[in-house]
Amino acid sequence: MSARPIPVVLDVDTGVDDALALLLAVRHPALELLAISCAGGNVPLAQVVENTRRVLDLAGAPPVPIAAGMHRPLVETPQDASYVHGVSGLGALELPPSEREVEPVHAVELLRRTLLDAPEPVTVIALAPLTNLAVLLRMHPEVLPRIARIVMMGGAVGAGNATAAAEFNVWHDPEAAEIVLTSGVPVVMYGLEPFYRATVPAERIAELGRSADPVARAAGALLAHLAGVTEDEGRVDGAGAAAIGDAGTVAAVIDPTLLRLRRAPVRVALAEGPTRGCTVVDLRTGLGAGGETTKEAESHVEVVLDLDGARCAELFLAAVDAGAAVPAR
Ligand code: BDR
Ligand code: CA
Repeated sequence: MSARPIPVVLDVDTGVDDALALLLAVRHPALELLAISCAGGNVPLAQVVENTRRVLDLAGAPPVPIAAGMHRPLVETPQDASYVHGVSGLGALELPPSEREVEPVHAVELLRRTLLDAPEPVTVIALAPLTNLAVLLRMHPEVLPRIARIVMMGGAVGAGNATAAAEFNVWHDPEAAEIVLTSGVPVVMYGLEPFYRATVPAERIAELGRSADPVARAAGALLAHLAGVTEDEGRVDGAGAAAIGDAGTVAAVIDPTLLRLRRAPVRVALAEGPTRGCTVVDLRTGLGAGGETTKEAESHVEVVLDLDGARCAELFLAAVDAGAAVPAR
């Protein structure tokens, strides 16, 4: 792990697992959180902003700039994921209202300023539909060299979750995802394969729920909610276990040795029908039809093929549970 904190911005649609990601990003000393942009996704935009402020208070975050961004996808009709995250977006977790200020500018403008003002290129951690980032890249191409890379939770090599073919963040705004994935900016695609691999077992979730630390208790409540939702889906190993989801994407920035990556071209299926929002990952090694070869070397996208789930979950737990030791820097 590098000695200097990594400057990051977070784009969120808070969301139960975005909340876990925020807790980790605030609590882990390896990251310097420069700004947070909000997009409509799991819940409507106003609720995303409210949840984000409350979670930042819970985490004891310093006054990091937050702004509201795109309330809807570029083309699609917005469809939230309250069936996963509950109506509030935070499951059954209730947090007190926040006095935290929201910047009086659009999130795209906050991102532009933050990236241009930062002394070094910034890592963008994208945990929401990619609407804010697509608009940023189209409106302000001057920020491109200021982005170290975009580490995005989105897509899948295999099956989807929102539909049989598509992962929620990409399905919610497929055109935005296609813009980001083909922008030329280095992208790490943290898809559904790693997303469900970092899990916390039922006993550990219960232990968090009994903690004296309010952050650990909240993490326990959020994970317990996710365990309930994902139980029937068969995606997570272990009865009553939960995946840390978006928080794994943050962990991947903190410790890239958790990941097995493969450079590959990725395109988004944009046609209407059952494949809309599917990420088509070209992992071929031989010749394709008509002698076509994979343009692997030309791709700016690295796909996470595998994750050390146990180590990833430990990194998360060490940061959010004050009882556990946070790794020394
Ligand atoms: C993604 O969609 C949202 O429901 C989660 O917050 C995560 O970012 C998983 O498909
Ligand atoms: Ca999310």
